[in-house]
Amino acid sequence: MFLSGYWLQVVLSWAVVAFATATVVVAVQNAKLEQDLRDVQSKIDIFEEWNGAKNQRVKREDSIDYRLPTALVPTHYEVYWHPDLETGTFTGQERISITVVEATNQIILHSYLLEITSVYVLNREVESFELETERQFLIITLTQELPVDASITLGIIFNGQMKDKLVGLYSSTYQNEAGAQRNISTSQFEPVYARQGFPCFDEPAMKATFAITVVHPSGSYHAISNMKEIESNYLGDYTEAIFESTVKMSTYLVCVIVSDFASQETTVRANGIGEDFSMQAYATSHQIDKVEFALEFGAAVTEYYIQYYKVAYPLTKLDMAAIPDFSSNAMEHWGLVTYRETALLYDSSYSSTLNKQSIAGVLAHEIAHQWFGNLVTMQWWNDIWLNEGFARYMQYKGVNAVHSDWGMLEQFQIIALHPVLLYDAKLSSHPIVQQVDTPAEISAIFDTISYEKGGSVIRMLETYVGAENFEEAVTNYLVKHQFQNTVTDDFLTEVDAVVPALGVKKLMLTWTNQMGYPVLNVSKTSAGFLVTQQRFLSNPASYEEEPEDSEFGYKWSVPITYTASTWEDGSVSSVVYDYDVDSVGIALDSDIEWIKLNVHQTGYYRVNYEESLWTLLIQQLTTDPSRFDIADRAHLLNDAFALADASQLSYIVPLEMTGYLAQEQDFVPWYVAANKLIAIHRSLMFSEGYVSYLTYARSLLANIYQELGWTVDANNHLRNRLRVSILSAACALGLPDCLEQASTRFNAFLQNPTTARPSPDLREIVYYYGIQESSSQSSWQQLYALFLDEADASERVKMMYGLAGSRDAQTLFNFLDLGYDESIVRSQDYFTLVQNIAANPVGEPVVWEYYREHWPELSARFTLTNRNFGRLISQITQNFAGTVKLEEVQQFYAKYPEAGAGANSRLEAVETIKYNIEWLARNRADITDWLSGTASPLLTAKNQL
Ligand SMILES: *[C@@H]1O[C@H](CO)[C@@H](O)[C@H](O)[C@H]1NC(C)=O
Ligand SMILES: *[C@@H]1O[C@H](CO)[C@@H](O)[C@H](O)[C@H]1NC(C)=O
Ligand SMILES: [Zn+2]
Repeated sequence: MFLSGYWLQVVLSWAVVAFATATVVVAVQNAKLEQDLRDVQSKIDIFEEWNGAKNQRVKREDSIDYRLPTALVPTHYEVYWHPDLETGTFTGQERISITVVEATNQIILHSYLLEITSVYVLNREVESFELETERQFLIITLTQELPVDASITLGIIFNGQMKDKLVGLYSSTYQNEAGAQRNISTSQFEPVYARQGFPCFDEPAMKATFAITVVHPSGSYHAISNMKEIESNYLGDYTEAIFESTVKMSTYLVCVIVSDFASQETTVRANGIGEDFSMQAYATSHQIDKVEFALEFGAAVTEYYIQYYKVAYPLTKLDMAAIPDFSSNAMEHWGLVTYRETALLYDSSYSSTLNKQSIAGVLAHEIAHQWFGNLVTMQWWNDIWLNEGFARYMQYKGVNAVHSDWGMLEQFQIIALHPVLLYDAKLSSHPIVQQVDTPAEISAIFDTISYEKGGSVIRMLETYVGAENFEEAVTNYLVKHQFQNTVTDDFLTEVDAVVPALGVKKLMLTWTNQMGYPVLNVSKTSAGFLVTQQRFLSNPASYEEEPEDSEFGYKWSVPITYTASTWEDGSVSSVVYDYDVDSVGIALDSDIEWIKLNVHQTGYYRVNYEESLWTLLIQQLTTDPSRFDIADRAHLLNDAFALADASQLSYIVPLEMTGYLAQEQDFVPWYVAANKLIAIHRSLMFSEGYVSYLTYARSLLANIYQELGWTVDANNHLRNRLRVSILSAACALGLPDCLEQASTRFNAFLQNPTTARPSPDLREIVYYYGIQESSSQSSWQQLYALFLDEADASERVKMMYGLAGSRDAQTLFNFLDLGYDESIVRSQDYFTLVQNIAANPVGEPVVWEYYREHWPELSARFTLTNRNFGRLISQITQNFAGTVKLEEVQQFYAKYPEAGAGANSRLEAVETIKYNIEWLARNRADITDWLSGTASPLLTAKNQL
């Protein structure tokens, strides 16, 4: 037992008062969990992270039903928690009010990694209870059957561990200003970890109300939860904080935090839709002045959502807290959103333009969930895409509403859409809606398909039905299903009701129920244009392989939008290409030269044109780029390169297209181009033609590089974003002036770390290339020492990135080794460290060797069921492009056949290496020929048409 003397009294007095009149049958079995089992699982869960994960396709054990029986419905929980910050353990007890809807003599709910000390049912007799670890069930058997309609009260006393985990109820530590270690306790329950905090019916549709009491040390500590504190009982060393009962909600949204954090407050104006309410931001006291931006933005975006949803915010407050150890970026607990420090704290002397934008994005995402997700929740996790895809899309709208000059609607393309189009062009992808049952499957589905593809498909739907209709459907959906649960079809029903003629449901099924997406081929005919479709796969060899079954045969109902060369006013037409027809004709006047499909790239598909049409598009781009707006220019670049990478288009097309960049001034298209220039540089690195490629790529960047310079603008968000993108590419491609500038700034900084810090926007570039260009070991040591001393989380991330820039393999090896120690790199950041080093060509073989060499220790620390650990293999090997490397990878698999959650990542790694080999074989010659001027240029060819 972990009870301190005082706590014991508190528990007993509470139990006595609460249950004095009841017949309390305490089951006396000691259901002690084995400690080693607990150790293993807490490690398993440490790195569970929702974002961008690979679906792990865990084999389902068909014989096991992981779902709770439907006989009982919980309606209300009274939960009492006492986290002990000194020992890192907690004790708790609860009473759950339950309605019986089918007669049963068993109560089955979730409980995991908890020690259950007593179980009782008021006025009933418990025969026995047992924990079943596979399904994470607590099974209570009563001596008599519970009749239908009975209302019962279940009481449980329990305790558990908070150390060495980032889920359930867990502890986090930080150093205060005086350098003393402070412990706090916090919770992360989504998707399947509430059961590690208290025994509960841990399924999203089992909504109930929660009356929470939390014990915290008296003095500087306090407790916060979803609702406002209504009463505080001072008990000497400890104080009980009693919170107002919640509204009806899912278990995964419950949150409690015991900390000594400071807070700041603002008011959210309801502007006629409900009441104004307070918003507080919590952080460690020495960082409390860093919450100002989050509070200001948080209130503004919440006010926007109230107007957009037209539904009053359902609670009486909405707080946020920055947690020093946090597995994902943030979690949308109703009324108390928690964040990683880098996702909430903004300090203009540490945070870059990108940091600011990311903070706004994360806040806008979590706050969007307060209605879409919290008020209306998916029935089961297989529909999580609707929650996450909607919030992913909405966050761009939300930030755009507050900062309209940040170009967020176009940034959706480069941050969300383009990366997932790459991912989803592989055979190892998966459909948006996919059955999930086990806890591992449930956490695996929080991946880029649910978030980015989900968001992209919702964006396409909004474009198809119109923004106002979409907004109306969202409001209707929220009102109709508030405090309840839904499936995807419920949402589409509301959209359909607003625009019944558009066949929304049928169209959407082709996007949600099969993986991948199409490429549309466009050719000119005498009557206009002809469009056909085919699944887009990035590796031409993949077309030879047998795809997984799909009910739509990998055809999609595509809402096509297009604009044409003679439509100078920019008008847009549309047509739906149904999945079950072979082709679609677009009849247009014969004086129309080019058309461009997928206007603003709001559709989730690529477009390929016959070469003469590409030539016309390039010609238009070159003569007058402004004929296409930012989103369309970014789209043309992205599609041309992706199609060429997939060998569906000559590489000459995107290369010729780059010529127009001399006139490009906007961030989003340049971001596409600059990243592609870096990627090709990495692909060609060890081949002939590399030098002439470098010369060409540097020449493309030279002008814009000169123009932007190294002085950060005071107040021009997009120009600052553009600068970082261009400087990063220029330094990566070895532009001499860029490397020199970085070095000079870096050396000045090392000489005077307090006064000569580069601007936050430039820090990553200065640190990374400063380290890269420095031959002295002491520079690295100096930056490392500064890194160890640094308290600001976002600055630490920047320094950690810089330290990975060394060209010395031994240094990188040492860094990798040092970073294994949690006191040097927090567990939440370890995989970022590994990826940073692996992304450096010098570090890649170091990491690869380390990874294989230390596989037994690594897999013991992080465990095979950790999906982020599993993902490392595809990240480390993503630039491998030779058969020797492929053999090494396969030998490694043979040596350690047990891959756990990394099974799919291993397949993806092999798929990528084969693709890289193929890419070089098919494209290297095209690129070098074009660079040496021996390829026939498109634009001259066009003149002969
Ligand atoms: C914080 O937690 C650690 C680990 O449980 C413990 O060793 C330490 O004493 C705690 N510190 C305080 C101030 O309670
Ligand atoms: C589309 O064009 C590509 C490249 O020319 C070709 O490989 C593919 O077969 C075409 N697909 C269809 C459906 O016409
Ligand atoms: Zn989310």
